[in-house]
Amino acid sequence: MAPPSEPFVLPRTGIEVANRCLLAAMTNKQSHEDGSLSDEEIHWLTMRAKGGFGIVTTAAANVTETGRGWDGEMGVWGDHQLPGLTKMAEGLRAHGALSLVQIFHGGMRAPQSINGVQPVSASVNTEAGMDGSTRALSSLEVEDMVEAFADAAVRCEQAGFDGVELHGAHSYLICQFLGTETNRRQDEWGGSYEARRRFLWAIIEAVRARTSPNFLVFVRISPLIEKMGIHLEESLQLAQDLVKADVDGLHISCWDVFQEVDDADDRLMTKRFADALPDDFPLISTGGVWSAKDAQFVMDEGAHFVGVGRVAIGHSDWARHVGDVDYDPQRAPFTAEHLSKEGLSPVFIDYMRRWKNFVV
Ligand SMILES: Cc1cc2nc3c(=O)[nH]c(=O)nc-3n(C[C@H](O)[C@H](O)[C@H](O)COP(=O)(O)O)c2cc1C
Repeated sequence: MAPPSEPFVLPRTGIEVANRCLLAAMTNKQSHEDGSLSDEEIHWLTMRAKGGFGIVTTAAANVTETGRGWDGEMGVWGDHQLPGLTKMAEGLRAHGALSLVQIFHGGMRAPQSINGVQPVSASVNTEAGMDGSTRALSSLEVEDMVEAFADAAVRCEQAGFDGVELHGAHSYLICQFLGTETNRRQDEWGGSYEARRRFLWAIIEAVRARTSPNFLVFVRISPLIEKMGIHLEESLQLAQDLVKADVDGLHISCWDVFQEVDDADDRLMTKRFADALPDDFPLISTGGVWSAKDAQFVMDEGAHFVGVGRVAIGHSDWARHVGDVDYDPQRAPFTAEHLSKEGLSPVFIDYMRRWKNFVV
């Protein structure tokens, strides 16, 4: 398989990406209270574009004001956010990166203490750490939510981003609609597999209808979350169905691409998705990659892009070095001083202290 440093042409649009390195979405808590971007957040992300990443994804950005999962979260729900978004998009483009905004809604993971309203989900759900349970969205509200995603995507295009990543992973609202445990609806939005995936499909169709043909739409999923009722077999089916859904690629969030799946099949996650998909359908796989050898492993498993998170926090120019097969940059923990030099503000460094063994 191609090395991660080689260019790639996205088949649906013919848009060329400088290399196969993608900066995965990373929340960094640096946005203002009203969801608008701070200069610190723009600076940290632009530095990764400067560091050579072919595709740079923003932090998860909310499509509604009341779907927020945490403080300091990036928002794309209002026009007041356009100036910051535009500045960020311009900065990323200036360094030659393609830019994606990861759009999402917290659903059952959007606490009342932050949003002032009872959280919503596909069904009545509860989640550890949440104060009470959600209410199920009415079918009219589901349609409004689809429009909120489309409005957000339109805003991202207006700001100059190349596309969006629909965040269907990590137990947030899209994922809650996909899971059999969290979506127990009896209407057109729940029940069968086709009905549970309808929310995601409606978002894809609405975004496509309201953005220009070259605007990129990627979908990120978690292949397997038992407690949500996200099962691997169905995720593989979803991947195959996405090929026909007019999207630009699939991003699987593995957390550890080297981890074996607990069943009789000895293929790892990336390979299973690569085998299930046509050769030319872009697959991004992320989780646990640090060295150039790790990155090549992901490519050899059949991915078209290798996604990275933590290594790029410590090394903004990781993508520039990954062509050297012996590249194996310093591992965490990092000193606050090192992280500051790598463009992290004190707020972000403080947040990274919550990630085990990341900050000295
Ligand atoms: C600080 C931090 C924030 C993250 N925020 C998001 C997020 O907003 N959206 C998302 O889909 N994943 C998020 N992730 C997960 C990463 O995108 C990535 O999948 C994960 O870190 C595994 O990759 P890595 O081992 O290269 O770090 C976050 C990870 C980290 C470390």
